[in-house]
Amino acid sequence: MDSFAAELRKKGERPYVMYYEAVGPLGIASYVLLAREIFVQLREMGITAQYLFHTSGSGSTQAGLILGAKHFQLPLNVIGVMPNHRDTREERVRRIADNANRTAEFLDMSARFVCEEIRYDETYAGEAYGGPTKKGMDAIELVAGTEGIFLDPAYSAKSMACLVDHVREGRIGKKDTVIYYHSGGVPLVFSHSEELSA
Ligand SMILES: Cc1ncc(COP(=O)(O)O)c(C=O)c1O
Repeated sequence: MDSFAAELRKKGERPYVMYYEAVGPLGIASYVLLAREIFVQLREMGITAQYLFHTSGSGSTQAGLILGAKHFQLPLNVIGVMPNHRDTREERVRRIADNANRTAEFLDMSARFVCEEIRYDETYAGEAYGGPTKKGMDAIELVAGTEGIFLDPAYSAKSMACLVDHVREGRIGKKDTVIYYHSGGVPLVFSHSEELSA
């Protein structure tokens, strides 16, 4: 991307390079606000939640959520689930911790993170970004049939599959409250319409 941008600059153009993980502290701050919204809603409902599951790609979402959860003292296990094998678990965990720390500095928050406290599950990933998995497809069917909510095969299905396994294996108790963050991706349902309608 850098060399292509340099080529364009030579031609007098002004490219804006969007790096994969370049959301940066300003963008990640929006997910700190998401954690704040969750904090406010839980307080209004008078409940506490123990888990939050979501799919975690570049890790920007997770960085903001863990920072917000720590800052607002939510006793919440934020579990990010890897959608694809674009890079390694170690690289993503380090990026999540670094981004959370950079955003904490940016927002003048005292919370800091080390890699060991990041909960990141890489075992539900498909091969490519769009790669569906058997467990993901089963999760789509389950959630559509029971809740009328549509997840997509590439992204959101993977964290739901992880959540479903946690419940089935008893890793989440009946009394626990779980939040699932559905970040979108629904148009991908149409890219896999044949497999899904089958
Ligand atoms: C559906 C969906 N939601 C959210 C995201 C952003 O996730 P992250 O902040 O981990 O990159 C992506 C990124 O690919 C996505 O496809």
